[in-house]
Amino acid sequence: MDNWLWWKHGVIYQIYPRSFYDSNGDGIGDINGIIEKLDYLSELGVDGVWLSPINKSPMYDFGYDISDYRDIDPVFGTLADYERLLEEAHKRGIKIVMDLVMNYTSHLHPWFIESRSSRDNPKRDWYIWHDGKNGRPPNNWKGIFGGGAWERDEKTEQFYMHSFLKEMPDVNWRNKELKNAMFDMIRYWLDKGVDGFRLDVANLYIKDDEFRNNHFTIGPTPRPYDMQRHVYDKNRPEIHDILREFRKILDSYSDKMSVGEIFVEPADPKISQSYLGDGKNELHLAFDFGLIITKSSTRLLKWGAKRFSDVIEKRNSFIPEKGWPCNVLSTHDDSRSISRFKGGKDAIKRAKVVSTMLLTLRGTPFIYYGEEIGMRDGKMKRKDIMDPMGKKYWPLYMGRDPERTPMQWAPDENAGFTTGRPWLPVNNDFHLVNVKTESQDPDSLLNLNKRLISLRKEKDALNRGEWYSAKDASDDVMAYYRVKKDQKILVVLNFSNSPRPLKIDDQGVWKNIFSTHKPVGDTFKNIDFTLSPYEATILEQD
Ligand code: GLC
Repeated sequence: MDNWLWWKHGVIYQIYPRSFYDSNGDGIGDINGIIEKLDYLSELGVDGVWLSPINKSPMYDFGYDISDYRDIDPVFGTLADYERLLEEAHKRGIKIVMDLVMNYTSHLHPWFIESRSSRDNPKRDWYIWHDGKNGRPPNNWKGIFGGGAWERDEKTEQFYMHSFLKEMPDVNWRNKELKNAMFDMIRYWLDKGVDGFRLDVANLYIKDDEFRNNHFTIGPTPRPYDMQRHVYDKNRPEIHDILREFRKILDSYSDKMSVGEIFVEPADPKISQSYLGDGKNELHLAFDFGLIITKSSTRLLKWGAKRFSDVIEKRNSFIPEKGWPCNVLSTHDDSRSISRFKGGKDAIKRAKVVSTMLLTLRGTPFIYYGEEIGMRDGKMKRKDIMDPMGKKYWPLYMGRDPERTPMQWAPDENAGFTTGRPWLPVNNDFHLVNVKTESQDPDSLLNLNKRLISLRKEKDALNRGEWYSAKDASDDVMAYYRVKKDQKILVVLNFSNSPRPLKIDDQGVWKNIFSTHKPVGDTFKNIDFTLSPYEATILEQD
């Protein structure tokens, strides 16, 4: 296919390595486990795999607190294992995207150990240090995981800033040496053959240089962070300068990509997509989480055709002409889509509707491990909770362990994930919801995903065509076109549990190329028929 760009026209799959597949029986997923499952990914048809962090870490935040950027944590394997993963993935035409956590390091990173050792240490300025105000923190900034964003260091009698845990001090991107050290680290991985990066909290890199207080907007919330408008500790304009420099490094290699985690609350695609720059000079892709959150990370987007199309239309209007969108329904930080969208006994039917949507929208689809088989959020007891967020907010909020439970491979002990004791409990629906059982059922969610991924590859209109809404659809039905040259495709999705009429004034002969209900191959003279409850159908104009 002409100009096939894997990160743009392909499908990317996110793996949370602790939970994917355990090859050595210690109950924790590892790199060799991922290698063993590459054939599965290749059959599924994915083009790239993004791995949550596998670098050396004391695991206060399960790998997002890195103590050595250039090595692999022993829990996941060795550098040699990682190099083998790159090689084996590349053999199968699968690209590897690394999580790049550059807003903070672990407090046990040698840089921070040096930085905190004295006020005049050469690395002092690599982190964000500030005097307190009469023994109190320098300003009112809050930690995203709760509490304040400042920690007093007894020895040097100053405060350091941390956006998340106090064990994760934020680095100072205004310091050139720090910036160069980060950029060297990036080159180190690119030289090893890594194909792309997911930039963790990329919109937090720079903080106000005058350390002004954020404004308060609303009264008390369970998480004090949500009470503020993050004017001075988030989305600062200088971040774009850093991303432009970063992009130049990527562009000095061939076929590399970046996707940024641009979490903005309330969700605001205008801000998130601004990190694509002019479409060619900052990030390649930006997650705006519009299909997950609305007003805050605890206010989630509810089921509904109109709600979904509004999000997509609004988002598309902020994609620069040369830029490209991406779509994501689930991540390691958010309740899984199938649980979020509820539906009771119809949950799988809803999942089929949204999988069809995800894989036919304009923009790179990201599938979170287990989403393709319909894994739900796990139910946690207090004693099972590992996530620091869960520990802090239980029982108000269970944290993020529910969406990080072990991958369900088979109807066997521990769902075939490990021969040991899994680090998080396996969901109790694994007898039905698992790769082995679903592979044998032609009607399963897994097989639906496989068919759609392959259709997306086959049809240019689906992987790169224009997108526009078919205006005549009713409120419960999402209907949109994907068009490329003379290929015209219409996707229709019934979000309702009742039949819905569909009438679109578009002459011609339409062939059914995919459907959860109608026989594939059937042709229609007019778009004037009834959609079954939760029907997802894709038609191509002959
Ligand atoms: C990002 C990661 C999340 C992590 C947080 C702090 O948001 O996606 O998992 O906890 O950064 O490290």
